[in-house]
Amino acid sequence: MRYGYFDDENREYVITRPDTPLPWINYLGCESYFGIISNTAGGYSFYRDARLRRITRYRYNNVPLDTGGRYIYLRDDDSGQFWSPSWQPTRHQPRNYSCRHGLGYSIIGSEYSGLDARTRYFVPLGEDLEIWQTTITNQRNAPAKLSLFSAIEFCLWDAHDDATNFQRNFSTAEIEVENGVIYHKTEYRERRNHFAYFACSESISGYDTQRDAFFGPYRDWEKPLAVERGSSSNSIAHGWAPFGSHHIKLDLAPGESRQIIFLLGYYENPPEQKFDHSDPQTIDKRNVRPVIAKYSQPEHAGAAFDTLRSYWKELLEICRVETPDVHTNRMVNIWNPYQCMATFNISRSASSFESGIGRGLGFRDSNQDLLGFVHMVPQRARQRILDLASTQLPSGGAYHQFQPLTKRGNNDIGGGFNDDPHWLVLGASAYLRETGDWSILDERIPYDQQPGSEETLYEHMKRGFRYALERLGPHGLPLIGRADWNDCLNLNCFSEEPGQSFQTVTNREGKVAESVFIAGLLVLACKEMAEVACRLKLRDDADFYKLQANKMEQTIHEHGWDGDWFLRAYDNFGNPVGSHQCDEGRIFVEPQGFCILAGVGLGNGMASRALESVHAHLSSQHGIVILQPAYSKYYVHLGEISSYPPGYKENAGIFCHTNPWIMIAESRVGNGDRAYDYYLRLNPSAREDISELHRCEPYVYAQMIAGPDSHTFGEAKNSWLTGTAAWNYYAITQWILGIRPSWDGLQISPVIPRSWKGFRAVRKFRGATYRIGVRREGQGNGVELFANGARVRGDVLPLPPDGCKEVVVEAVLS
Ligand code: GLC
Ligand code: GLC
Repeated sequence: MRYGYFDDENREYVITRPDTPLPWINYLGCESYFGIISNTAGGYSFYRDARLRRITRYRYNNVPLDTGGRYIYLRDDDSGQFWSPSWQPTRHQPRNYSCRHGLGYSIIGSEYSGLDARTRYFVPLGEDLEIWQTTITNQRNAPAKLSLFSAIEFCLWDAHDDATNFQRNFSTAEIEVENGVIYHKTEYRERRNHFAYFACSESISGYDTQRDAFFGPYRDWEKPLAVERGSSSNSIAHGWAPFGSHHIKLDLAPGESRQIIFLLGYYENPPEQKFDHSDPQTIDKRNVRPVIAKYSQPEHAGAAFDTLRSYWKELLEICRVETPDVHTNRMVNIWNPYQCMATFNISRSASSFESGIGRGLGFRDSNQDLLGFVHMVPQRARQRILDLASTQLPSGGAYHQFQPLTKRGNNDIGGGFNDDPHWLVLGASAYLRETGDWSILDERIPYDQQPGSEETLYEHMKRGFRYALERLGPHGLPLIGRADWNDCLNLNCFSEEPGQSFQTVTNREGKVAESVFIAGLLVLACKEMAEVACRLKLRDDADFYKLQANKMEQTIHEHGWDGDWFLRAYDNFGNPVGSHQCDEGRIFVEPQGFCILAGVGLGNGMASRALESVHAHLSSQHGIVILQPAYSKYYVHLGEISSYPPGYKENAGIFCHTNPWIMIAESRVGNGDRAYDYYLRLNPSAREDISELHRCEPYVYAQMIAGPDSHTFGEAKNSWLTGTAAWNYYAITQWILGIRPSWDGLQISPVIPRSWKGFRAVRKFRGATYRIGVRREGQGNGVELFANGARVRGDVLPLPPDGCKEVVVEAVLS
């Protein structure tokens, strides 16, 4: 069953009924001002950091789930009837409801009682504000006398403090209202020089800025007193809960349409220019007034929207494909890169499943996110790599996350994950392959943001290896530390106290438990580093990393192979995890994916054998399960992984992030049919028809789909912010379709299904546009390449001579 449809022409998903199984959200903003918005206008906004600069308030896990947002109420002043065109919060039965989620904007509205009202929400590029453009059309044969009320609830900046510290917060709120603009300035009197504002293009009949005055005692969003009554009370918040609501009166002739613009924004004044001359406690509004004046005009708002549309059109033109499959085209050309932008921006901080309080930018996560983003805005990827490296610790290890506003690392969700440092190497190599900008390696950046500790990025990368090589265990495999990529395989945790966080508790020394996954990751990182060193003409380094890769590969052959698949780990007692000897958790997907991705076992049959085992034991109709058999009970020596009920999350869920690793591994062994089959099982668009089961948005990947051991097999959770986005994009574009940025040119090495006759693609790469046609003439993956008619040896297209901006590529598969 579906709740809408894809409008590929407009690059939108159109939701046609409001009662989706879960709120289906979109993101507003892609630079510094962000918001999440659901299909019924729920959600909130923040500036840079969802925890430290929250602009509007949102209560997670509410009843109904998605309550509070950017609401508009319409009231028929003749009958006194009122409703919300976005369905929530009044939930009147609408006609022609639709929510068009587009790239960086959403348009939500419906018809009710002969009045059509739709609001377009977006954030203009280069600005720290959101625009709501509401268009109301009177479809009656009679004039309509209407009232319109806007409604948002301000957050007192620090979202965690806002949700907990009521003894203080109920006394701090402050508001100013000037010319119909509501200024939220809590704590402006002391150490903040930023404020929020909520403005309206019309002259208003009233306003409310104290929440209780708007709602009335013991009422909620469904039936605000001000709306019911048809008038605001011009309340000013002194403490309690600052709110923003405008009341606008409208007379619409039959057939008449009116557009009203609301602006919700964030503004920072220079500290020495905080206050107005006339009153030492009043905001100096000199600089913000022109911004408000500009975007209150439909021409400027409209132009900003057009710029946003062209921005996305251009970004998506960097890599476009035309394959025989609509789901592939739609995801690769529109939604998958769009989701990659969101994960790049928000990391794992703010979604319907991440509260914006718990997690900042993950070191491991953000490095992987680059894989799906670097081709779009390489300059931003460059800055991100340097920011990440600046939080690296002097030991070469890493903080697990950092706060985007301060760029300081923290241990709030643990430290000592021994896989972390390697991801920096993979992030940097993705950037180098894409751009050829070797200068990034010479950038000098600090450790742990400590001034004076600066070294080049290249040295940072080397320290990461030193950290890893100093931490090898009894079998010569990397020690796992707190955990590796799988946050929940906590082999040194041994927690028996309820309520302890598996992420921060360590009760064992950590000198025994080893990870085969990190071993595979290390091999891959060493190989990438050797390539880098080679191009820098650092022979000794290149030899060193090649040697380390070979050594670790040998160690995996000897101690990381279980007979039919790669082992997962050794636990604190030196016993294997993910082995046929185990009662539960006999086979794990991660080492199969990552060892083969690194090239381990390609020469001796281990890779193919491991992939057969994955197919036999882990694959399911909804994707590849992370492990089998599921852990049926809690094992203190394994940690969080066994804390989840069977079939969910890391305990035998379909942890989608890992699936593309197997797709890549299948392409590495030349099995395009299987790689693509796995790809399609997860492809959100291909799952659209089962939306009532899948439940999450059909236009983005989710972190997890419940596995066969669960009670809800096929149900997705944790959509949007997941490494699944970048890895799927990388797997389909670079490995299955095989268009791969490589060190010295664009590599064309497709491993596509045998039934495909070919496909076409356009890829912009290092200043040239490649128009690629792939044609199948035989059943294999051998490729013969022609660039502008000339035969190319091998599968890498050399960079075109200066001045040549277009390369027509013909690839013949035999
Ligand atoms: C989450 C985390 C990621 C981790 C994965 C597996 O997606 O963001 O860092 O690797 O879970 O536990
Ligand atoms: C939990 C989740 C895991 C996530 C981690 C982040 O362990 O199961 O997916 O990565 O929390 O701290």
